[in-house]
Amino acid sequence: MSAAAISVRGIGKHFGMLKVLGDIGFEVGEGEVVALLGASGCGKSTLLNIVAGLAAPDAGDLWLHGERAVGHDERRSLAYMFQEDRLLPWRSVRANIEFALEAMRPRLSARERRERAATTLETVGLAAFAEHHPHQLSGGMRSRAALARSLVGQPGILLMDEPFSKLDPQTRAQMHSEVLRLKTLRPTTILFVTHDVEEAIVLADRVIVLAPRPGRVREIVNVSLPRPRSATDADVAEAIRRLRLLV
Ligand SMILES: Nc1ncnc2c1ncn2[C@@H]1O[C@H](COP(=O)(O)OP(=O)(O)O)[C@@H](O)[C@H]1O
Ligand SMILES: [Mg+2]
Repeated sequence: MSAAAISVRGIGKHFGMLKVLGDIGFEVGEGEVVALLGASGCGKSTLLNIVAGLAAPDAGDLWLHGERAVGHDERRSLAYMFQEDRLLPWRSVRANIEFALEAMRPRLSARERRERAATTLETVGLAAFAEHHPHQLSGGMRSRAALARSLVGQPGILLMDEPFSKLDPQTRAQMHSEVLRLKTLRPTTILFVTHDVEEAIVLADRVIVLAPRPGRVREIVNVSLPRPRSATDADVAEAIRRLRLLV
């Protein structure tokens, strides 16, 4: 059996006296889409930051593709889409994406960077807006730009922390379809954080339900409904209803 893309083993974390995460363990298979679902403050962002290497756990360890992840080297293939889009306001969309690519792949030539940025912007439907600045874009377009920035380095693993929570429901649904469409173009493992039960059911193959104080795994739910999934479908609505009872 091949190694899991992500293996979280006995992770614990304190902030001072506050025990935020207690003995968390789960795996994410290659190509799987997994949601971390839990109430605000239960430690979802802290856990994702630990996977990303932005925070260190006090206990346990993390394995990526069968390798123990101790630093940045094992996280080469990982991209992180934050809760805020974090686009640099003084740079065009294209320049934002080239800048991110330069940090991820410093050996690429300027020409290669430009070509890859253009291709990625085309993929997310933003080619016509490459020279726009972030303030000139709608919320949905900014979200696409942030997604393009995450994907331009061709990550094997994409982490997302409530990336669509500020969008209106219609734009959020469009971004969900977009993420799933992009995943069919290039195989990617996705681990994302949400407090939105509907988002978890629409996107995920499996949902890890976290309990708070300290954050720990309460339940793992398989979602085997066919895609695309819409909350207006009876079986999807039923899965949402059942998951709500667990959160
Ligand atoms: N850097 C930090 N220092 C101290 N406390 C923190 C820090 N980051 C998060 N916390 C606390 O840890 C808990 C979990 O936070 P977080 O991981 O952001 O939760 P979530 O993303 O589920 O809303 C909260 O009580 C928060 O106040
Ligand atoms: Mg959070």
